[in-house]
Amino acid sequence: MEFKNLLVTGGCGFIGSNFIRYLLEKSDFAGRIVNVDKLTYAGNPENLRDLEQRFPGRYVFLREDICNLERMDAIFTDYHIDVVCHFAAESHVDRSIKRPADFIFTNIVGTFNLLEASRNHTAGFRLFHHVSTDEVYGSLGKEGHFIETTPYKPNSPYSASKASSDHLVRAYFKTYGLPVTISNCSNNYGPWQFPEKLIPLITLNALEGKPLPVYGDGKNVRDWLYVEDHCEAIWTIMNKGRRGETYNVGGNSEEENLSVVYGICDILDAIRPRTGSGPRRDLITFVKDRPGHDWRYAIDSGKLQSELGWAPRESFQTGLRRTIVWYLENTGWVTRVRSGDYLRWIDEHYGPGDK
Ligand code: NAD
Ligand code: TYD
Repeated sequence: MEFKNLLVTGGCGFIGSNFIRYLLEKSDFAGRIVNVDKLTYAGNPENLRDLEQRFPGRYVFLREDICNLERMDAIFTDYHIDVVCHFAAESHVDRSIKRPADFIFTNIVGTFNLLEASRNHTAGFRLFHHVSTDEVYGSLGKEGHFIETTPYKPNSPYSASKASSDHLVRAYFKTYGLPVTISNCSNNYGPWQFPEKLIPLITLNALEGKPLPVYGDGKNVRDWLYVEDHCEAIWTIMNKGRRGETYNVGGNSEEENLSVVYGICDILDAIRPRTGSGPRRDLITFVKDRPGHDWRYAIDSGKLQSELGWAPRESFQTGLRRTIVWYLENTGWVTRVRSGDYLRWIDEHYGPGDK
């Protein structure tokens, strides 16, 4: 499929930045990428800085808020957008519990705006791909897997806002014939993930000898997918997926949270032994459970595998080690994204954005 001008939203975040890098470095995409990102605490243009020089004319960054429909419309016109891959979102469940409002604005109203902008520019428009989560399906017991027809039953403000955006995308296909695809993916991990999510948070705390907070009894189960496998799945769906369809994406790597934390501790103990203290597992601290904590997610990505020939490449064991090594080698990045100074620097460098 010949895409020319691809609007990526949220391209300075974890998955979006990996996706842009994947497209430019590893895929057959030959067009231009326009990355629209508001640069919240989770967005970091440093993730992609080398690309502007390495791929001249093929990568443009715009600090914009997807909640501003007028600006989205203007960007569609100015850059002749013919395809959208929509990542921009508030993405952390714990934050959605403490402060849900941003999730409603960005995840629901922002998605609505991008759908409207797409509908206003249908001449030559090829595809709106919406990146979503398996959390829209709710929580599983011991048995079973989410399939594409599993009824939606979101439990957190985050998953409810994503469910709402999925419904809007589907409705624009049915009502207006907008060409869309949707992917619902399991938990991602890998380089450039903001250290509020389980794997980078535990890695950095363990490295620094801080307590390792495990919610509840640590028996909740997540299915883990290495981020580059997710990027490849999205690109496969965009190129070959049937319009109007949803595809589940997963890693076939179900793990209890406690076993993920053990794995991180053991890898770090092996490659960066602690001096004068015991094993890092000693740092594990059971803390109050998350309200409404989903017990288990497990995804069946059989439709994507059999229809479009995608399969994950990275195993959880090798992917986890790669990820930990990346965090060990990128301590400067970690310090900067954790510091308020860095957000101030972004404001000075890129302007205060559309707040
Ligand atoms: P992230 O929090 O790392 O990045 C989100 C990006 O969106 C940031 O760069 C942020 O600045 C930007 N953004 C937020 N509000 C914006 C706004 N109003 N306008 C423009 N940009 C805005 O998130 P992520 O983990 O990379 O997730 C990306 C997408 O993938 C999300 O839609 C998420 O729901 C979905 N997803 C994530 C996972 C996961 O495990 N992380 C799994 C499945 C699906
Ligand atoms: P998280 O990375 O926040 O992703 P999600 O909530 O979207 O699945 O959390 C993954 C799992 O790890 C989830 O069951 C909550 C748990 N968790 C902890 O036990 N401790 C922590 O400090 C964090 C951030 C998460």
